[in-house]
Amino acid sequence: MAQKTQVGIIGAGPAGLLLAHMLHRQGIGSIIIEAQTREAIEGTIKAGVLEHPTVQLLDELGVGERMHAVGFEHHGIELAFGGKRHRIDLHELTGGKSIMVYPQHEVIKDLVAAVLANGTTIEFGVRDVALQGIEGTRPSIRYTLDGEARQIECDFIAGCDGFHGPSRQAIPAALRVEHLKTYPCGWFGILCEAPPSSDELIYAQSDRGFVLVSTRTPTVQRMYFQCDPSDHVDNWSDERIWAEFHARTEGSDGWRLKEGRIFQKGIIAMRSFVCETMQHGRLFLAGDAAHIVPPTGAKGLNLAAGDVVLLSGAIVDFYRDNSHQSLDSYSARALKRVWRGEQFSWFMTTLLHDFDGEDTITRRFRRAQLDYLVSSRAASTSLAENYVGLPFEGSA
Ligand code: FAD
Ligand code: DHB
Repeated sequence: MAQKTQVGIIGAGPAGLLLAHMLHRQGIGSIIIEAQTREAIEGTIKAGVLEHPTVQLLDELGVGERMHAVGFEHHGIELAFGGKRHRIDLHELTGGKSIMVYPQHEVIKDLVAAVLANGTTIEFGVRDVALQGIEGTRPSIRYTLDGEARQIECDFIAGCDGFHGPSRQAIPAALRVEHLKTYPCGWFGILCEAPPSSDELIYAQSDRGFVLVSTRTPTVQRMYFQCDPSDHVDNWSDERIWAEFHARTEGSDGWRLKEGRIFQKGIIAMRSFVCETMQHGRLFLAGDAAHIVPPTGAKGLNLAAGDVVLLSGAIVDFYRDNSHQSLDSYSARALKRVWRGEQFSWFMTTLLHDFDGEDTITRRFRRAQLDYLVSSRAASTSLAENYVGLPFEGSA
């Protein structure tokens, strides 16, 4: 069976869904194909923090209602080290900006509902996806659904299929440069039934390793501790997990994490990855398909949103003015913001994690940098403006 549309989108993550929704609002048709089921994408626990520009974007697109109703707007974060906590007042330092703690799978639910309501097709559970003809003017995507061979003929293909998807590989190896850094640690993430331990997120550095204290709802908390990336969740009993959290976070002020029943555990790898270029012929990559950050800066989903703002704008320009100009410069413009986010994520990661085998001077530099960050307004402002998110290109 062959279908025709203007933009064929591979992947119903934040990038693919946002793109379909933005294109529809400009009268441009698309079809999304997704390897997983709707239940799986709406239930997978991933990122938790939306930057200020991402919140604004979701509002502008009319999909921010539930986010404001059940998400939590935070005006600051805390950096904990040396047994003390230090507040970074994001709101004051950035002229009134904030972040929203609202889980990625809730964003996905909102976007799936909006995309289906506007009549866009999402085909779930596809297999054997192959991109064809991207160097010509009428590319196509071949795949199977329930064993039946299918095809989408389109003007453009948007590769929004995450780090492991096939789109990036469709760019000839000789035409792309892949930059990769693997960190010698992972994050052990838990969800637990407990009240919040803090009104704001805590990024804690200690000699035993990093901890992030985040939240989901008044009764469910999200927390992470730095671990060996080859470790296994079965090695960690609940007692051992809580003992490690306490050992890394307790200081002189008497503050103590609140415990509760742990109902989800998982280990996340830490990588910095960028594929240059993000386009070839009629194929355009967006989000994790082109770049990955370690989670410390909370940037992954937000970088995907930045790509989509540029890509949708470029596709709209093409259909409105018959102009290739914005499309031709998509990768160069997107990569500027991506490299900023990558550098900030690396900075936060190396600032807050201790790595085995480090020399003592590196550890002392880390402490000096942390002291500077919380005592200098210029340094705190730099951290704050990166954390709340730099404006998307073309927006205020
Ligand atoms: P994805 O969300 O990966 O979506 C890609 C979609 O494409 C998926 O639904 C996938 O099933 C689909 N797909 C893949 N292959 C195919 C195919 N062949 N055909 C059709 N569909 C396909 N970021 C943070 O900032 N903080 C965090 O705490 C954090 N935690 C994370 C935890 C995990 C386990 C993972 C995997 C990522 C995490 N991230 C985090 C990163 C963040 O979630 C991503 O940056 C974000 O999901 C990027 O969105 P995307 O749409 O580009 O890609
Ligand atoms: C969360 C994840 C992050 O990577 C981060 O930097 C902040 C919060 C979270 O899952 O809540």
